[in-house]
Amino acid sequence: MHTLYFDLRDTKGQQKLIEDNISAAAKLLRDGALVAIPTETVYGLGANGLDGAAVRRIFEAKGRPQDNPLILHLTGPQWLPRYCRDIPPMAYVLARKFWPGPLTMILKRGDLVPDETTAGLDTVGVRCPNHPVTLAIIREAGVPIAAPSANLSGRPSCTSAADVIEDMDGKIEGVVDGGPCAVGVESTILDLTGDQPRLLRPGGLPVEELERLIGPIAVDKAVTGTLAEGERPRAPGMKYRHYAPKAPVTVVTGAPAKSAREIRRQVGPSSGVICFDEYTGLFTGQVVRAIGPVEDKLAQAQRVFEALRSFDSSAVTEIYAQCPDGQGLGMAVGNRLKKAAGFHVVEADSEKIVLGLTGGTGAGKSSALAVIQKLGGTVLDCDRVYHKMLAENEEMQKAVGRTFPGVFRPDGSLDRRKLGQEVFMKKEQLEKLNAIVYHFLVPEIEKQLNATADGIYAVDAINLLESGLDQVCDRTVAITSPTELRVRRIMARDRITEQYARMRITAQKPDEYYRSKCSCELNNDADTAEEFQAAAKRFFSRLIRSVREEKQNRTL
Ligand code: TXA
Ligand code: MG
Repeated sequence: MHTLYFDLRDTKGQQKLIEDNISAAAKLLRDGALVAIPTETVYGLGANGLDGAAVRRIFEAKGRPQDNPLILHLTGPQWLPRYCRDIPPMAYVLARKFWPGPLTMILKRGDLVPDETTAGLDTVGVRCPNHPVTLAIIREAGVPIAAPSANLSGRPSCTSAADVIEDMDGKIEGVVDGGPCAVGVESTILDLTGDQPRLLRPGGLPVEELERLIGPIAVDKAVTGTLAEGERPRAPGMKYRHYAPKAPVTVVTGAPAKSAREIRRQVGPSSGVICFDEYTGLFTGQVVRAIGPVEDKLAQAQRVFEALRSFDSSAVTEIYAQCPDGQGLGMAVGNRLKKAAGFHVVEADSEKIVLGLTGGTGAGKSSALAVIQKLGGTVLDCDRVYHKMLAENEEMQKAVGRTFPGVFRPDGSLDRRKLGQEVFMKKEQLEKLNAIVYHFLVPEIEKQLNATADGIYAVDAINLLESGLDQVCDRTVAITSPTELRVRRIMARDRITEQYARMRITAQKPDEYYRSKCSCELNNDADTAEEFQAAAKRFFSRLIRSVREEKQNRTL
């Protein structure tokens, strides 16, 4: 079977041709055929909404679950009494203001509407699409047209006739090409059958505009993705995985500059990116889809589905998407992205993540810290803080002076060499010094971390575990490495003999110690620095992501 293609874009001035196409499409629909129709939101897959058999074929063509009802498309509010009952006055107020337009109202269902259209519910969704061609087709057909979005079930919706052909060619009788959709996201669905108007799906009509006219609107839980396991949403369609490209999607929320930076931190060579126009330059190595400037939510709505769709024909293995704020059309765009991501959302600007790194000499701690910095993190060098405190913190100086009399010169300055001699090779003395240092250092590091902005921090401390600094970290990472590799690295780095390198390693705690005490381990068995850096980047990206997810789950 061939799908008939009615091109109503390039027929400018050819009134007769347009009318013929409209009549042909209307006749097909009246006869029980399936015809995809343009609307201002997305393309719909239309059938005569009063013909149960025709409507059943919609479900087959889309592979749509049977319990997901369809929206009836009308030419205006004058059709409401035919297909609905107990219509509240508010429905007419809304229709007068917003129809034709991207508003679907859920009302009590009239007797003429078959079970197939409403999936057996006693309510029905109705809307009047704002597209001259489709309005003319419905008028000519003389019946309400049941039409879900014209995509295969689960795929992103279609915003052009080409998208429809991609999904539906051969499965339906016709496609009416009315050009690209002006809004680009589906209609806003408002349930008017309860005590209070309730938003079931944010869409092309911003909820703020509705509230301006009718006052506060309740927001259904399914909109924000907070349905509990097994809980049933009021709009059955909201429970399905939707709009999803083949590759898994991660949505990054937060201020655009931050979300862009966060995505940049996370992307790998095979990641795809959906971003605002302003940030494309950050992702030159990626498959990028720009969906419009930060401030242009309409452009974002128009392009979001096409962007999601387009990745299916590329080789990306994961997709990151910047998310607009929830104002105006941003609520619908963000909702579609989050649904495409199965609500896998990362908040770019709300957390502080603290990683503690420790390990023996030559294992690769410095390289690992450098990688964290490359990922946008900040390193807190505890050794430096300690030396600064010894020079400046009077309380700490007093405590050291009491335990090690004579290490401060008469002018009050510290004689470091003397202090070194006091503790060198004297285990007990060293322990006393450490106890003092830890006592002052831990609260100081804590204070510094509290005073910093959100972001990623790496605490670099030789005695991370002994000092108690591990308590301020979200994760502690043991950097370990096979002894032979460490020997070679230290020899090259410090230009020392093999014997001396081995001595330095044996004087320190073994890898096993760090491994058993830290929350995770990064083993450096790489032959080259580049290899280790690449491994460390993967390791820390994953670690940061998992800490972030854990924090988000905690705050849900
Ligand atoms: O913009 C749109 O609304 C597009 C164009 C084609 O008009 N249509 C569209 O249809 O998005 P569809 O089937 O993809 O989404 C309709 C949504 C589904 O989530 C469905 O569960 C919900 O509306 N729905 C339909 N009738 C309902 C009812 N009686 N009660 C609650 N939810 C309903
Ligand atoms: Mg749909």
